[in-house]
Amino acid sequence: MAQLQRELFELERAFISSATTLVPRVGDPEVKYLLCQHVWESAGHARFLRERGRELTGFGKTDTVRPAIWRVFAEAITPSDPEALLAGFYGVLKPHILAAYRHYLEATHHLADWPSRKLVEEFIGDEERHAEEMEPRLNESPDTHAWCEHLRTALALLDAPDAPVTNFTWHHVASPYAHPATCNRGPYPICSSVFSQDPKETPIVRDWLDDPKTDARVIRAMIYVWLMMELDAVDYLSTVFVETLDAPFDMHHDMARHLWDESRHSQFGFRQLPKLGFDLMTIEQSLELYNILIQMPAAERYALMTMEFETGSFATKAKIMDRVRELNDFEADTLLAFDRNDEQNHVRYGHQWLPEIMKQCGHEESVEEFVKAAKANFAKMAEIHGNKTPHSLTPEQRLTGEKILAAVT
Ligand SMILES: [Fe+2]
Ligand SMILES: [Fe+2]
Repeated sequence: MAQLQRELFELERAFISSATTLVPRVGDPEVKYLLCQHVWESAGHARFLRERGRELTGFGKTDTVRPAIWRVFAEAITPSDPEALLAGFYGVLKPHILAAYRHYLEATHHLADWPSRKLVEEFIGDEERHAEEMEPRLNESPDTHAWCEHLRTALALLDAPDAPVTNFTWHHVASPYAHPATCNRGPYPICSSVFSQDPKETPIVRDWLDDPKTDARVIRAMIYVWLMMELDAVDYLSTVFVETLDAPFDMHHDMARHLWDESRHSQFGFRQLPKLGFDLMTIEQSLELYNILIQMPAAERYALMTMEFETGSFATKAKIMDRVRELNDFEADTLLAFDRNDEQNHVRYGHQWLPEIMKQCGHEESVEEFVKAAKANFAKMAEIHGNKTPHSLTPEQRLTGEKILAAVT
C-alpha cells in the first residue's frame, strides 16, 4: 500500500513539474488559469499522500521522482503545439493518474487502510472535476491522436519497464524541452508595457494613480488592468519548476500556491473589467517581463519576482486600496485585500526558498549579493530584450487612460 501511495505521490509531483511548462505555451488565459488551479490541487494531493505515506513503513524518506516516471512526463512536454500538449496531458496522463487512484481503492482494505482511502476518494472527485473542466478546451485532430498514442506507449513502459520495445523513440532524449522565448496569449492583443505617463498611449498612467484628484473609478479600472497583467507572473513563475526538479517537494508546493495566487489575481481583472463595461479585446496584454526574465537564470527570475517586484509593490497598492475604498465597492475592496495578503505570503516564500533555488541552480554567493547582481543583469537584459513587442492595436483601437476616464465619468 505504501508503495502504491509512493507511486501516486511521484505521479502528482511529476505532473506539477511538467504541466507548468504548458502555461506559457497555451494562449487562452482561461486554460492558463485552469492549469494553475489543477497544479495547485495536485500539490495538495501530493502533500497529503506524503503525510499519510510517512506513517507507513516503505514509503521512503526522499521526495524524489524515479527516472522511469519522470521520463514519461519529460516526453509529454516535448511538443510545441498547445493542442497536442493539452491532449497528451488531459487525454493520457491525467486519466492514468485517475485510474491509479481508482486502482488504489480496489486494492486496499476498506478498514485497515481507511485513512488513506478517505483521502483518495476526495482526490478522485478532484480528478473527475479536472477532466470535466478541461474537456471543453480540448481539440481532437489526427495529429493529437497520433501524439496520444505515442504517450500511451511511453506510459505502458512504466508498467513493464523491462519489456522489449521496438520502434519506440523517446523524443525528449534528442530534443529536450526548452522554454519559448515569448509567451502565447492566443487571440488577445499584446504589447510591451501597459504603464506610461501618457494617457493617450497606455491604460495605466503612473501619475494618475498617485494624484489625489484622479476619480476613484479611474483608479479602480486601472488597478484591474494591473491585476489582469499579473498573467505575466503566471507565465514566468511557471518556468521555474522544470528547472528545479531536484528541489524539496515543499518548495514546489509553495511555488504551486504562489502560481495559483497569481492566476487568481489576474482573474480579478479578467473577470471584473468586462463587468465594468471594458472589452477585453481592446486591452493589450504586456509580455515585457516574461520576455526579459526568460533570458535570465531561473534563480534570478525568482529573486526578482519576490525580492524586487513583489516587495516593491506594497506602497503603491496601499494608496490604491485607500482610494478604491471611497467607492463603497465591497467586492473591489475584498479582491484588493486578498491580493495584498497573498503578496505578503509571496515575499515570505521568497525569503524561504530563494536560498534553496540558488543551491539547486549552483549559485554559491550570498543572497544579498545574488539579488544585487540579478537587478544589474535585469537592467542589461531589459536593454537587449525589452520593448520588443509592438502594439497589436493602434492608440485609437486600444484602451488608454484617456478612454478609461471618458468611460467612467
Ligand atoms: Fe499577484
Ligand atoms: Fe505575487
